[in-house]
Parts: sequence; C-alpha cells; structure tokens
Amino acid sequence: MSPFRVTRTLPEDAAGAALRADVLAGLTGTPKTLPPKWFYDARGSELFDEITTLPEYYPTRAEREILLERSAEIAAATGARTLVELGSGSSDKTRHLLDELTDLAVYVPVDVSASALEQAGAALLAERPGLDVHALIADFTRPVALPRTPGPRLVAFLGGTIGNLLPGERAAFLASVRSLMSPGDALLLGTDLVKDERTLVAAYDDAAGVTAAFDKNVLSVVNRELGADFDLDRFDHVAHWDREREWIEMRLRARTAMTVKVPALDLAVHFAAGEELRTEVSAKFRAAGVREELAAAGLERTHWWTDGGDRFALSLSVAR
Ligand code: AVJ
Repeated sequence: MSPFRVTRTLPEDAAGAALRADVLAGLTGTPKTLPPKWFYDARGSELFDEITTLPEYYPTRAEREILLERSAEIAAATGARTLVELGSGSSDKTRHLLDELTDLAVYVPVDVSASALEQAGAALLAERPGLDVHALIADFTRPVALPRTPGPRLVAFLGGTIGNLLPGERAAFLASVRSLMSPGDALLLGTDLVKDERTLVAAYDDAAGVTAAFDKNVLSVVNRELGADFDLDRFDHVAHWDREREWIEMRLRARTAMTVKVPALDLAVHFAAGEELRTEVSAKFRAAGVREELAAAGLERTHWWTDGGDRFALSLSVAR
C-alpha cells in the first residue's frame, strides 16, 4: 500500500456547487462578501506562502518560534499516534511537530486545496519515506469524516485560521472538532493576538502589495470558475481594523461604479463607486476569550504558550 493516499471526501463537483452557492449569497447580500476559503487555488496558495515571508506578516514566524520551542512538550503531553491537521496548506510548520511526535503512525492533512495537499504530501514523503500520509480534500468548516486511525489523536489547527470564522461559526466549528475527538484526544490551536492597530494593519496591507494581489485573486477564481468578468484593476485592497469586534477585515473597494456579470449564476452585480466587498475576517484573540470558547465546546485548555513578542499564542486542550 502506498504511504500517500488522497481522499476526496466530497463528490467531484461539491466544491463547484459550494462556490456557486457562496458567490450567489455573498454577491447578492448587503454588504457584499465572499468567504476567504476561495482564495486558495494554486495561485492563491502560492501568494499566501509568499505572504508568510513578508516582513510585516509576523504570525507565521511567531507561531513557528513557539512550535520550535514547544513541540517536544506537545509530543510528551499528547503521546499522539495520529496527527490530524485542519487547513494544512504547505504543512511547513508541521514539520517541527512531526520531528517530535515519535509515536506517530499517521499524518492526516485536511485542506480544500488539492494542489497544496499534493505538493505538501510529495515534499513530506521525499523527506520522510516512512511517514504514512492520508490526505483529505475537505472543507473543514463542514463536518469531516476522518479515516480510522490509531489514538490518541492530536488535532492541529494552526496559523490563526480559526480567526477567519465569525463568532457563531467558531462555536459550531469547535463543537464539531470536539465531536471528532475521543476523551483524552488533544487540540492544538493557533490564535493571533490582539495588538496595536498599526502592526495589525501592516500585516494585512504590506508595502510590496502581495496581500493586495492575494485579496484580488479571489476575483480571478470567480472569473475562471464561474465565467465572471471582474476587472481586478478596478478594485483597491483595503485592510480595516474593527476595534470593537477585534478583527481585521480585508475588503476590495470598487474604484468606480460598475456591473459585473457572473454567467454561471445568471447574475449581474452592481457596484457603486467606493462600495466594498468583504473578502476576509481575521479575528484576533485574548487568552481568556480563547479559554472560554474552548470550554464551551467541551475542551479543557491545559497549556497556553506565546512567542517572545506576545504576538501569537498556541494552546493545547484536552477533550473530556
Ligand atoms: C491563513 C487565515 C491565518 O488570516 O492571517 C494572510 C490569511 N489573509 N493575509 C490570516 C491571510 C491575509 C491568514 N490565515
């Protein structure tokens, strides 16, 4: 049996149907929105990887610092035999965990991006021929069926991606993660922390314009997949800090009034000049809030680690 398997947990066109439903709901609502998961086609995944190397985008480096320092402790505390990673992307930071999880039998990366999973899987196996990788192409915001693998399981959700969910979605998501776990299984969660506005806005509006290109890429996805005619040059990238809700919003602001056609939906969408389309919410957290949200889902936080600059946190929780 090959040590690398990829399972599509949804029928081949489920992604297409979900994209159509999301775009229809998002472009006909007020304000207009698009869910951030559609950023990550092959080009979007590449742009995101580039973002993680930008001087302004600190979360990846801060989280890596914590993982480097704490992976041995995480391995000892969990004794994990299965590592499930939700939104695994390039699986890059996961290598620090894989290095320390000496009892690991299977790594299960879960991502919506088939191209990211294939690349990451190939790279991992080249480095670690003995590793058993069972990748799942799946949308982790919906219930995921995991392969039967040995426990205890460690579920990792890194990068601060939980911040892309709205508060209600977060509660539902954590409850569904808990339902995948047996008592004694653990959740490793990465959360970006509330900090000064200048640092936050710079992280989402870098000087080189990579985040702007990443933001606009979602329009290319809609153009390609649904035949739409978004003109990317007629939108400006905006990063806005909402200080009440403590989240960053990425938006695309129409430079002029325009009508965009989406043939696959039989839809024409009007934008007023200056109108903003929200493409991402990236919530920032505080220690007590994370503990409460975990507890509400039946997860007891046992560890809380931050980087040297207190910019980012990793928490470990156990299912009771
Ligand atoms: C991968 C979802 C954690 O919200 O910071 C990076 C995505 N968006 N720059 C984030 C992102 C803009 C990122 N996450």
